[in-house]
Amino acid sequence: MKVIAIANQKGGVGKTTTTWEIGSCLSSENKRVLVIDLDQQANLSDYVDSDPKKATIYDLLKADNAVEDALQHLDEFDFIAASEKLSKADKEFSAPEDIYLLKSLLEFVENDYDYVLVDSNPARNTLLNMCYIASDYILIPTECDAGSITGIDAIYGDLMKYRKLNWSNARVLGLILNKYEKTSMHTLAIETLQEKAKEMEMEPFIMTVRKSIKASESKLALQSMQKYNKYGNPAMDYRKIGAKIIEMTQEA
Ligand SMILES: Nc1ncnc2c1ncn2[C@@H]1O[C@H](COP(=O)(O)OP(=O)(O)O)[C@@H](O)[C@H]1O
Ligand SMILES: [Mg+2]
Repeated sequence: MKVIAIANQKGGVGKTTTTWEIGSCLSSENKRVLVIDLDQQANLSDYVDSDPKKATIYDLLKADNAVEDALQHLDEFDFIAASEKLSKADKEFSAPEDIYLLKSLLEFVENDYDYVLVDSNPARNTLLNMCYIASDYILIPTECDAGSITGIDAIYGDLMKYRKLNWSNARVLGLILNKYEKTSMHTLAIETLQEKAKEMEMEPFIMTVRKSIKASESKLALQSMQKYNKYGNPAMDYRKIGAKIIEMTQEA
């Protein structure tokens, strides 16, 4: 089982979209996929029309429920929903060992899935720290603006801190330049990403996802782009990224 966190401290860069699309792509490739919404805004939980009667990831982290109480079997993948109570995470999970909570609970499903994808919140908080500890890989979606590119340095810096302490084995798997268009800003952004990738311990892939209104339309229809607009540019771009992820995470 490989755990992949989708992270960038900046909001609106495509974390939730990437989590959903990659979840859908990996399951189309016959992988057993669990997707966890670890963002208090619960966007993905709303989009996939998750069952509000089920326990949430918050209940699991609090150890108030067993994993089975939270698992939802959707058509594209299994899912664990977020709760707005995650906004209390920094207070509720403040003991030093609490950063291991996500990792510990994933041990219960170790044999049930090939991939676990975690959609994270746009903040450098305890939930994101839990992701660094629990993950094997981090995927970083970004836009071409300076703010979301700076988010990459923040994530890499925090991750390296945990790796040096031997608390995390995670590596940055890929940088995804989202909402891509053929502009000079985007060309420049790719160059910046290439420089950043070369400086990293293990060089991540850099791939683009083209901009399209279908990304928002499909969410209104409560469908992934893989379902809503399978041959649209972003859906095809995500399938390429899905294939790359499988190739790069294959056991040696
Ligand atoms: N490739 C794309 N083209 C156009 N809009 C996109 C694309 N990817 C995401 N979006 C839109 O950008 C907004 C933010 O995306 P989202 O995945 O929610 O980001 P985050 O989870 O990082 O906040 C959403 O309205 C989404 O539909
Ligand atoms: Mg989001």
